[in-house]
Amino acid sequence: MSIQPLLEVKHLRTTFATEQGPVAAVDDVTFMVSKGETVGVVGESGCGKSVTSESIMRLLNEKTTTYEGEILFEGRDLLKLSKSEMRKIRGNKISMVFQDPMTSLNPVQTIGDQIAEVIVIHQKVSKGTALKKAEEMLKLTGIPAPEKRIHEYPHEMSGGMRQRVLIAMALACRPKVLIADEPTTALDVTIQAQILELIDDLKSELEMGVMMITHDLGVVAEVCQRVVVMYLGQVIEEGGVETLFFNPLHPYTKGLLKSIPQIDGDRTEKLHVIKGVVPPLTAIPTGCRFAPRCAFADEQCKSSTPDLQEIGNGQKVRCWKADEFLNKEGHGQNGATV
Ligand SMILES: Nc1ncnc2c1ncn2[C@@H]1O[C@H](COP(=O)(O)OP(=O)(O)OP(=O)(O)O)[C@@H](O)[C@H]1O
Ligand SMILES: [Mg+2]
Repeated sequence: MSIQPLLEVKHLRTTFATEQGPVAAVDDVTFMVSKGETVGVVGESGCGKSVTSESIMRLLNEKTTTYEGEILFEGRDLLKLSKSEMRKIRGNKISMVFQDPMTSLNPVQTIGDQIAEVIVIHQKVSKGTALKKAEEMLKLTGIPAPEKRIHEYPHEMSGGMRQRVLIAMALACRPKVLIADEPTTALDVTIQAQILELIDDLKSELEMGVMMITHDLGVVAEVCQRVVVMYLGQVIEEGGVETLFFNPLHPYTKGLLKSIPQIDGDRTEKLHVIKGVVPPLTAIPTGCRFAPRCAFADEQCKSSTPDLQEIGNGQKVRCWKADEFLNKEGHGQNGATV
């Protein structure tokens, strides 16, 4: 399959003005999403996953946020578009599904009206046509009796159904890129599997590129072709899903993988947790950001910042020890089994 980049994030840096001064929640983030692929974005809480997606959608308060770098979509840099040009893309060509369906839906508007509204804004069709399309979208997301459901309010639906409504809304204009920020965290396991399968099916049907943000490496193993691992605002490793699961190079990625409970593993074994905590953005370590928590860190790691370097086979890693790990006998034995 030839790679057709849809969305290219290049050296993105997102800085917030805060009372403590400027803080960069995202710093030098580079990755791309191609047509028909799902890219997983993983990392501990606070590492900048949501800020990255909110930057792509330009959803952050622009009075207090500064963007640097480039976000290329269809040959244009989204960071350079005017607000009105961005409005034409947001929810239309690039859509997002948020974690909590309740806060993203209007409680006093029927779900049919809410989906139709998005369609009317972007497609200049009549309300009647838009409602018909809303019904089709609900059907596409597997909601039974969509002709009745369009007249319901969000509180009349279960969490899984509401999440489907959000997906229907995000996909109503047949976007090229779907950003899903923890789309199933609030749902129980069975519904989670159904929603993930649904996104996957729709991805193929609509030939979308999907950016799937999640804490859950099990989800990544199931639905992603490529993975971007973030730590403290940076991409620290990237690669094909199998490469990252079986041949992770960065000690942080290895740590994350060891934190997955193994189904066939010894259940009494204590789950490996990466030692230490993520430092605040106001106290970013010099050198490699992960060095204070890394068992392999030496002087170079503590004093100078490694770049994200390509090591072949589509794998990139931001680590001074990458070559050493790569050459070390037994490399590839450190990952988890999936
Ligand atoms: N508006 C803001 N002003 C200042 N700091 C912010 C703002 N929004 C987010 N941050 C900080 O940016 C960092 C990254 O946050 P982000 O929400 O992207 O993390 P995340 O990886 O999505 O975490 P989680 O897994 O918990 O959702 C955090 O330290 C957060 O406190
Ligand atoms: Mg988040």
